[in-house]
Amino acid sequence: MKSVLLGLLILVASASIAFGAAPSQDPNTGVNTQLYHSYDGLICADCHTIHNSEDGAAVSYAYSGANGPYQALLYRGDFTDLCLSCHKQGQNTSATAALPSVANTGWTAPIVMTLDGVVPANTAMPSGDFYYSNLDPKKGHNPAYTEGAVGSGTATSLFMQADPVLGDNPPGGILDGTTEWSCHSCHGMHSRFSSSYTAWRQVKRKVNGHVVSGDVTGFGVETATGNKGATEAGFEPIKSNSRGDVIGTNYLNVRPDGNPLEGADLFQTESDVNKNVYRGGFSSFCSACHGDFHGGNGETRTVNNTNTRIGGAWLRHPTNIKMNEAGSKYGIGTYTKQVTNAQSTNPNPVGYDWRYPLIQPDDDFTVSVTAAAMTDPLTAIGDDRLSCLTCHKAHATQYDNMTRWDAQGHAFLQNGADDMNGVPSNGDNPAYGCGKCHQKGGAVAFVKSF
Ligand code: HEC
Ligand code: HEC
Ligand code: HEC
Ligand code: HEC
Ligand code: HEC
Ligand code: HEC
Repeated sequence: MKSVLLGLLILVASASIAFGAAPSQDPNTGVNTQLYHSYDGLICADCHTIHNSEDGAAVSYAYSGANGPYQALLYRGDFTDLCLSCHKQGQNTSATAALPSVANTGWTAPIVMTLDGVVPANTAMPSGDFYYSNLDPKKGHNPAYTEGAVGSGTATSLFMQADPVLGDNPPGGILDGTTEWSCHSCHGMHSRFSSSYTAWRQVKRKVNGHVVSGDVTGFGVETATGNKGATEAGFEPIKSNSRGDVIGTNYLNVRPDGNPLEGADLFQTESDVNKNVYRGGFSSFCSACHGDFHGGNGETRTVNNTNTRIGGAWLRHPTNIKMNEAGSKYGIGTYTKQVTNAQSTNPNPVGYDWRYPLIQPDDDFTVSVTAAAMTDPLTAIGDDRLSCLTCHKAHATQYDNMTRWDAQGHAFLQNGADDMNGVPSNGDNPAYGCGKCHQKGGAVAFVKSF
């Protein structure tokens, strides 16, 4: 017995040396992953109150006047408010969390909502900023309905306003078999990954009644098998891993196949050397709620699907097509096409561009989180696929419909106007946005002053 344990310890120790150090958001001793939402780091009493009573007084927070108790024995009456109690700027440390139950143990949570739309220093926010959902609900998701509130016509969140036009109705789909529209519609919080959540940002395997990522044993990334059943036909499992795995008997911040984790460090600025790397079914995930906009698993130009390609023509934009599909007019060649212009930073680099992320093939690890890819032509490859996340972020952006760039702007930027990264344009065609892949003016730039 002793030697088995010793063997495991050696295995674990060498695994952590080989795969690099763990990030340290939770300095609690005894938490081997140093991550709050890992099962060993979780503090049940931060979020749950057993009797809603302390010194004879109610302790939970109201969303509409009353002081609980609330469903699932939570401190907050609304699921989204519970999450934002730790994930909104100003409330994101153990000293400032908007939950009376939280003890100051020194952790910092990644923020998803700022106070002013300005991404703070040393912060990535790759899914965008929910600040914009409150500023203008057209600019993002507004998950403002706790469990039971969907369909009632009454939103429940204090921190997130509801979308006055869409309410809880996803365009191109319906909420089906679920009565919440909250952070918890998409994420879990009881472990960093599990049989219910994928190892990518704790995103759920079963979303809106659809198993989008149930089957995880097939591609050799996660040890945990989904308990939601096999991934449904038409969906493809999420294969990137930002959350590590169980190695032996330990939760470690590594992938079991030896490849590096693929999530940007959320406590560093997002850039070419700190970016998310996507693999697998990110379009499938979105289409659990917006199914009409998706061409399905393995979308091609040659096969009609009922949503994007019908009668041999595109009727909606392809969302899961290979960038080198035979016969395609646009693809990896136009993605990397150089448009000569005088802008200080070339908006059209020769390699993989994190500002227009593509899905990496399962077995190609050329693009990695920390290595520059934009300047390396070998990183933009034909087997890359388009996805919803090529054009959208997952939470909210400063633009309508949470697109990554201003899709309502001119194809040319006015002289002096900032591009999507805040770099001033010289007035010649930066060919960004749709022009990244579709140079409708050719490869020659000319100055546009408007
Ligand atoms: C970060 C906040 C948070 C922490 C910490 C937390 N929970 Fe929860 N828990 C929730 C939320 C939100 C729900 C409601 C959503 C759901 O049902 O999954 C919930 C629901 C539950 C449920 C009912 C639903 C189910 O899954 O059976 C149980 C039981 C539960 N939690 C137990 C625990 C235990 C035990 C711990 C500590 C190991 C814990 N929770 C820690 C937020 C939290
Ligand atoms: C008591 C504070 C607290 C609450 C409440 C809380 N979180 Fe967290 N969360 C943290 C901390 C701390 C981290 C950073 C450590 C980690 O990654 O586990 C984190 C990290 C995360 C991450 C990032 C994972 C990654 O890939 O780095 C996600 C996703 C997340 N939380 C989702 C949620 C959701 C959804 C809820 C509500 C159901 C929630 N959290 C509620 C403290 C909290
Ligand atoms: C759990 C269901 C669900 C999932 C998964 C989901 N959405 Fe949504 N989405 C909604 C709902 C509900 C609305 C309408 C209400 C709102 O905007 O909050 C919506 C609205 C939108 C809008 C319009 C926003 C506006 O206000 O005009 C866009 C764009 C969008 N979603 C894109 C995406 C993308 C991209 C993904 C994948 C990262 C995704 N959605 C995943 C439920 C979902
Ligand atoms: C429509 C589904 C959806 C909803 C609703 C949603 N998220 Fe996310 N979230 C995602 C996806 C998908 C990602 C990963 C996207 C990516 O990697 O580009 C993500 C990423 C994250 C991250 C990692 C940081 C980042 O910016 O990527 C955190 C933390 C997080 N979500 C917390 C939350 C919290 C808290 C809420 C509620 C206020 C919430 N999410 C609502 C789908 C959702
Ligand atoms: C090529 C870029 C691109 C891709 C890929 C893309 N979208 Fe969009 N999406 C847009 C633009 C631009 C809009 C603005 C409205 C329009 O032009 O249709 C939009 C609008 C939306 C809306 C709002 C519709 C409404 O009624 O308000 C939703 C929801 C949406 N997209 C979801 C998705 C989902 C889900 C996917 C993946 C299956 C996806 N998008 C893929 C660019 C894209
Ligand atoms: C990451 C690359 C990429 C981006 C960005 C992109 N597209 Fe596309 N688009 C494609 C590919 C690939 C096709 C499929 C081309 C084919 O099958 O010939 C396509 C097809 C199309 C088509 C149909 C062409 C046809 O032959 O029927 C139109 C129209 C279109 N895109 C417009 C847009 C617009 C408008 C935007 C910006 C909102 C945009 N695209 C952004 C890659 C992209």
